[in-house]
Amino acid sequence: MYIKKLELVDFRNYEKQSFCFHEKINIILGNNGQGKSNLLEGIYILCMGKSFRTQKDLEMIRFGSDFLRVCGSFEKAGKELNIDVLLSGEEKKFKIDGFLGSKNADLLENAYMVVFSPEDMRIVKEEPEKRRGFVDHELFMIRPLYYKNLSKYKKSLRHRNILLKEEMPNEELIDVWDENLFKYGSKIMRERNGFIEKLKQISKEVHASVTNGKEILELSYEPDMTFAEDFEEQRHLFIGRLRACREADKTRGFTSAGPHRDDMGISVNGVDVRRFGSQGQQRTAALSLRLAELSIIKEETGEDAVILLDDVLSELDGERQKFLIQSLSSNQVFISAAEMNEEIKKSLSDGYVYHIFAGRAERDSAPVVYPDN
Ligand SMILES: Nc1ncnc2c1ncn2[C@@H]1O[C@H](COP(=O)(O)OP(=O)(O)O)[C@@H](O)[C@H]1O
Ligand SMILES: [Mg+2]
Repeated sequence: MYIKKLELVDFRNYEKQSFCFHEKINIILGNNGQGKSNLLEGIYILCMGKSFRTQKDLEMIRFGSDFLRVCGSFEKAGKELNIDVLLSGEEKKFKIDGFLGSKNADLLENAYMVVFSPEDMRIVKEEPEKRRGFVDHELFMIRPLYYKNLSKYKKSLRHRNILLKEEMPNEELIDVWDENLFKYGSKIMRERNGFIEKLKQISKEVHASVTNGKEILELSYEPDMTFAEDFEEQRHLFIGRLRACREADKTRGFTSAGPHRDDMGISVNGVDVRRFGSQGQQRTAALSLRLAELSIIKEETGEDAVILLDDVLSELDGERQKFLIQSLSSNQVFISAAEMNEEIKKSLSDGYVYHIFAGRAERDSAPVVYPDN
């Protein structure tokens, strides 16, 4: 898929700005604080309905305005889709080819987009929540049902936790929520297990290429509750664990076991890179995860995801930069940077260059000409 057009209205530091993108390479140049990441964020919203940087939608409305609009079109499997996202106050509206949608999920079913950013290292080195977020996000894209199951799981979890905080909670009601947690939770575990198994194979190969065979990357699913392929066995394990924790959960006032505490193990050459990896190893592991993510999207959906590289090139050494650019040759890529070095410029095929200055964008007139630094 690729993005054709975008218009940002009262979005971040853009008052009103239109873009027409190249099918392959789009370079976004500008000094710090001019609006490069804002532009990538706008592109992301067009396709995914939410930001990759913030949970707080209101933050994105331009200072002094009370609404924002992001609209544009992308082409997928030879079909053009027009998207219109409007946010005013707390209300967010999506129109997909003129039809009103109400949830992010409506957009998620249409688009495939992967962001590479310096923040990706956090997936590797920070708390399990970051790794769950990575896995969940990927599954949202390739398995629309997953989103629904996870929402239902979280809702059941909230209900159970409210009950646990009561002085004398109704045990039979807790039983009901235990069953619900199992119903959705076991589906989530099954999907995560299958996905991480696949990711493990692919990322291992990718990582070997990125590091010239010097490092072996190993992923593993680390479920909070033991995972079993067999339904009855899983039920026994899941419900049994919830029962075993119930008294303690009542004291704590929350549910202490379940897939909301899952993790993904990441090791390099046998060492747990989450805790003991060097910065360089963690950065490279994150890069391999992203590249593997792309392969899975392609394999599962047949689509080349749109790639956003937000200020990542400068973080990588020359070899890794080249490797990354070469790996992305069939995707539409947006690359933001303060400047581009000659080597990279040469390795890119044709594309557009946008210069960003204080929320205004100007495109170089001739597509193949790159700016002189
Ligand atoms: N809601 C907003 N309204 C107006 N300006 C904003 C808003 N949010 C962020 N900005 C401005 O956007 C700029 C940062 O843009 P950003 O795209 O992150 O920069 P960079 O080019 O370094 O990636 C800052 O100057 C900031 O003040
Ligand atoms: Mg930025």
